[in-house]
Amino acid sequence: MHRYEKIWLTASTVIIIGFMLIIGYQAFALDMGPPSGQETIDPQNVEEHPPFDDTGIHQIGENEYEVVMTLQIFSFDPMELEFPEGSTVHFTLTSKDVVHGFQIAGTNVNAMITPGHVTTISHTFDEPGEYLVVCNEYCGAGHELMATEITIK
Ligand code: CUA
Repeated sequence: MHRYEKIWLTASTVIIIGFMLIIGYQAFALDMGPPSGQETIDPQNVEEHPPFDDTGIHQIGENEYEVVMTLQIFSFDPMELEFPEGSTVHFTLTSKDVVHGFQIAGTNVNAMITPGHVTTISHTFDEPGEYLVVCNEYCGAGHELMATEITIK
C-alpha cells in the first residue's frame, strides 16, 4: 500500500473514533441530548391536563411571566399577549391538533409545536414595541391567518 494512503486511512480512522468518543462522552457522561420535546401529553384532551387546564398569562416573579398556550387551527390561546418592557417570558406550548409553528419575528424564538409534545421556550423582551407572532408550519387552509402580536410597553 502506498505510504500516503496509509497516512490518510490512519488519520480518518482516528478522526472518526475521536468524534464518536466526544459524542459518547457528551451523551452519557454529560447527559446532553436534544432540548425539549421530552415531555409528552395526550393531544386528544389537552385541556384536562395541567398546566393546559389553565391557559393564559401567569405572573411568576417581578418582570417574569409564564404563558401557557395551546395552538390549534388557526389560532393561539391566549391571543392577547402584553408585557412590560424588560419582561422575561417563559412559554409552555402544545398543539391540540396538527403541527404548528411558533415564531416571534425579530427574536430567536422559533419552535415547532407538535401534538403530543410539550415545548418550552423563553425570551426576554428588552425593546418595547409590537412583535409579530406567526405559525410557520403549514397547518391547513387557514395557515396564513394564524398570527397574533405580543405588545411590550
Ligand atoms: Cu398553524 Cu400554520
